[in-house]
Amino acid sequence: MAEDPRIIKNVYNTPKEVDATPPPDSPEAHPLASILDARSGLIMPTERMFLYGVLQSLPHRYVRAVEIGTWRGTTMQMMRHICDELYCIDPILQWIPDPSIVTRSSRPVQLIQDRSPAALAQITGNFTFVFVDGDHTGEGVYADAMALETRMEPWGVIAFHDGNHPPVREALFRASNDWKRPHRFVHLACDTISQTPEGIYGGISLIIVDTNPIA
Ligand SMILES: C[S@@+](CC[C@H](N)C(=O)[O-])C[C@H]1O[C@@H](n2cnc3c(N)ncnc32)[C@H](O)[C@@H]1O
Repeated sequence: MAEDPRIIKNVYNTPKEVDATPPPDSPEAHPLASILDARSGLIMPTERMFLYGVLQSLPHRYVRAVEIGTWRGTTMQMMRHICDELYCIDPILQWIPDPSIVTRSSRPVQLIQDRSPAALAQITGNFTFVFVDGDHTGEGVYADAMALETRMEPWGVIAFHDGNHPPVREALFRASNDWKRPHRFVHLACDTISQTPEGIYGGISLIIVDTNPIA
């Protein structure tokens, strides 16, 4: 099979720990251009638009969202416009918390400097949307996916970045198989692909939670 040309086009550096700075925001004036503007992050314009569309499609009127792995805060800056509450988890402080950075219902975005999945215990209540982009080992992704099983609202959605990374893909299939709660697993609902020196990444896979409780 010929090599996918997107792998050559979508090349990223390994995400490195950075000093905390104000989270970069897009200078684009048009809201659509701002959503698509991926210049400071590790996520493609298509993936940003996909996440925005997923958040927009949620049937909940009030969206309590979590980002696991927030790095410099670039996806946070996009997501906050389409959430009512947003909690960002990362063990390393890489963006400076600022109470003026608010969600669509004017609630400050909360930064939790700790490691997922343990850090989820610091957030009370359940979640309508979670973006998982933290520990990309198979063990880490599986642990996050399993910890979220009982924390999601009915009809909530979990979006996992990098479903094209082999350890992530394997962990997601295993977690979907091990979940007792009724759900639909849509692997690579956004089938983007990229590479870093560590291998193949990109793509977004979804767990869409059913209305039924855990079986
Ligand atoms: C790929 S970057 C996140 C990129 C960010 N979502 C964006 O698109 O701009 C991965 C981040 O996950 C963090 N991380 C690693 N292990 C983690 C864990 N167990 N819990 C939360 N974050 C973690 C790293 O410190 C790093 O900042």
